[in-house]
Amino acid sequence: MLPLPIRSAREDDIDAIMTLEAHGFHAPIRESRDVMRKRLRHFPEGFLVLENIAGEAIGYLCSEIWTGMAPDHRHFALGHDIAQTHHPDGHCLYISSMTVHPQQRGSGLGRRFFQQSVALIRDRRPHLQDSILLLSAEWIGAHRIYQACGYAEVARLPGFFTAIAQQNAEAIVMKLTFIDGDA
Ligand SMILES: CC(C)(COP(=O)(O)OP(=O)(O)OC[C@H]1O[C@@H](n2cnc3c(N)ncnc32)[C@H](O)[C@@H]1OP(=O)(O)O)[C@@H](O)C(=O)NCCC(=O)NCCS
Repeated sequence: MLPLPIRSAREDDIDAIMTLEAHGFHAPIRESRDVMRKRLRHFPEGFLVLENIAGEAIGYLCSEIWTGMAPDHRHFALGHDIAQTHHPDGHCLYISSMTVHPQQRGSGLGRRFFQQSVALIRDRRPHLQDSILLLSAEWIGAHRIYQACGYAEVARLPGFFTAIAQQNAEAIVMKLTFIDGDA
């Protein structure tokens, strides 16, 4: 697969990241600039951006490393402090968020960006054994990407997305156990 131009986020990407956040998520579940800045400072290898030809961020994926799987509201909570949850020696990669710019969607870029980002983080942190993420039951596109990458549902958190749900406010927690050669 042709490698995408993916790199660690820099401090000067923060405006573009916040624009992507505004395009990607409804207001009640958007992360603040402060939370995003903390994430990219605390674990830069896990905060990746997809560049366009001008070097601007047209997608981002951010993550943390956890010591174990904990499908609990508090760990997934909006605005949580990465300094409290990220443990570099842990074995579980938590993908805290991902989005691509609306103008770039629908042609397979989201899936490739996700696959290649997880592969990059695994290259940088070979001790990782598994990965976890959480999404709204209403995010069909994201669900298809994660399923295609081997993630499977392990829990549901009722009412997690009440603030934005059209019909189904459940969060789905998905997990993937890494085996050599997948991503
Ligand atoms: C999720 C997101 C990154 C996908 O980006 P993308 O470039 O459109 O993704 P792809 O083109 O690779 O499509 C991935 C799959 O989702 C499907 N899909 C995309 N949008 C969809 C939609 N609105 N409804 C149904 N399926 C959709 C595609 O058909 C494709 O499935 P397939 O390969 O099995 O046919 C993008 O839609 C986005 O940023 N959404 C807002 C933020 C978000 O939901 N982030 C996920 C947080 S967990």
